[in-house]
Amino acid sequence: MSRKNKGSQQRYGALQVIAGSANRPLAEAAAKSAGVRLTKCEVTRFLDGEFNVQVAENVRGNDVFVVQPTCSPVNENLMELILLIDACRRASAGRITAVIPYYGYARKDRKDEGRVPISAKVVANMLTVAGANRVVALELHAAQIQGFFDIPVDHLYSAPVFKEHFRKKRLRDPKIVAPDVGGIKIARAYARRLHGGLAIVDKRRVQADEAEAMHLIGEVKGCDVVLIDDLISTGGTMVEAVRVVRDHGCRRVFLAATHGVFCGPAIERLRAADVEDIAVTDSIPLPAAAKDLVTVLPAGALLGRAIKCIHLSKSVSSLFVD
Ligand code: R5P
Repeated sequence: MSRKNKGSQQRYGALQVIAGSANRPLAEAAAKSAGVRLTKCEVTRFLDGEFNVQVAENVRGNDVFVVQPTCSPVNENLMELILLIDACRRASAGRITAVIPYYGYARKDRKDEGRVPISAKVVANMLTVAGANRVVALELHAAQIQGFFDIPVDHLYSAPVFKEHFRKKRLRDPKIVAPDVGGIKIARAYARRLHGGLAIVDKRRVQADEAEAMHLIGEVKGCDVVLIDDLISTGGTMVEAVRVVRDHGCRRVFLAATHGVFCGPAIERLRAADVEDIAVTDSIPLPAAAKDLVTVLPAGALLGRAIKCIHLSKSVSSLFVD
């Protein structure tokens, strides 16, 4: 793809935001926050179910951001994203950025057994081959997934989205708890922002979709606990962690996760856990059954601000300084 180089800086045409169908309201909010309307695009189906995609406006030379979380149905949403990227590439867009608020297939990020794929890498290859020049992702399951791409990746954190929410909760002696060791980095960032302490639950996976929490590292007695994770899938990790912090005498329990996947028994389990509040962002559309149980916080403005920064070649990390 040929691009115009002006001095050391690459220049692209107008900023455009295209929405896939996985989460159109989120894409609309992101576009609004970036100061543009959504570029018209038609996604229909052939009778056999295949996607028929057409970008309905000129994108030639422009700086195009395609917003599509690859949540369930993950294969469908991923394929649609790939086709949208290909359509933009063949229409000679100047630069194509895949904005992936939820990155599906992220859990398989290493070969930890014989004869298993590294699915997160396969997805990265597919997006790059389709023609993505950059990626924007929100709270990746594992930060090292950035390295699966040989194109720039802007990894956004959802902390600014949750910060105000928790300020309003007037937490007493807050303890931010990572429900497993993989979540320590996120929990530490929240502990700093919410002026709280840090604790960690020692979790083991009994099976791929079944977690068992064992011990607590740290003290939560009498504290308001915020259990924070990148995602809630079956809810097993969170519910086990709730049991552990309650066993250790905490006061109130709040749950927060960037991505509310909520599959299988998640809703039932979380309802039974009877916590103060469960908050997720709108990176994934909320299942109807979770509407009365979960507080959804908008991430569109954060995505839009990041899109604007990238378009203007400004710092994205400046969005997270506070
Ligand atoms: C695990 O490493 C992740 O950070 C989440 O804790 C996990 O994927 C959540 O899954 P579930 O809700 O099924 O326990």
